[in-house]
Amino acid sequence: MTSLQQLPKHLAVIMDGNGRWAQKRLLPRLVGHKKGVDSIRTIVECCVKLNIPYLTLFAFSSENWHRPAKEVSGIISLMADALAIEVQKLHQENIRLNVTLQQSIAVAQKLTMHNTKLIVNLAINYGGRWDLTQAIKKIIKTVVNNKLDLENINEAVIKANLSLGDLPDVDLLIRTSGVFRLSNFLLWELAYAELYFTDVLWPDFTLDELQRGLDFYAQQERIFGKTREQLASKIRK
Ligand code: IPE
Ligand code: IPE
Ligand code: MG
Repeated sequence: MTSLQQLPKHLAVIMDGNGRWAQKRLLPRLVGHKKGVDSIRTIVECCVKLNIPYLTLFAFSSENWHRPAKEVSGIISLMADALAIEVQKLHQENIRLNVTLQQSIAVAQKLTMHNTKLIVNLAINYGGRWDLTQAIKKIIKTVVNNKLDLENINEAVIKANLSLGDLPDVDLLIRTSGVFRLSNFLLWELAYAELYFTDVLWPDFTLDELQRGLDFYAQQERIFGKTREQLASKIRK
């Protein structure tokens, strides 16, 4: 990668394929989830090295509660354990962690809240439709309380009320495991993201694979509805 390569500011990842990784090896699915935590460590380290400032990881969706109870509780306790171990390291590296669940997480969030090197958002119990619904409820409440005019509801107001309201939109989404769908992740924030799908299963995710995703991103012309000529003339100016 050259230093001139266009890098995403906000990278989002649907970390998929833990179960198949384990099943291929005739191991319990939970072993795959455990291995997946190592890949989280890898991608966080890479973002620090590359100066990517925002990383949002889909760890557990609102729909994942429908899995067998044993797998659900296994994943949740795995995440709680990993967080307890990793949080000091993240803090030392000036990494800020945002999460949406549980007490141990609140502690991690508080400890790292002033860190600036990288913001890692761990989306747990997250669903894009849930997020839009809670934002709409908050906005209606503000209108009902006469703190906001109906006429003044715009895209910025909606965005500000979402879970990731203070972050820029996602530039690049990576989904592993050869699945081509969004699975109810960041529906608003992905509106103009570049989408990179790879067959690699999440526990096998490495720096090389991230690099392939970043190379793909660097090749995209981000014209946001304009013509390529408009963009070229802007660069010349
Ligand atoms: C992603 O891996 C992790 C979670 C959804 C928690 P999966 O568990 O979905 O893995 P596959 O898709 O069954 O292989
Ligand atoms: C989406 O993966 C959620 C996470 C990666 C945490 P799933 O594997 O649960 O998604 P579906 O069920 O295949 O759409
Ligand atoms: Mg899956």
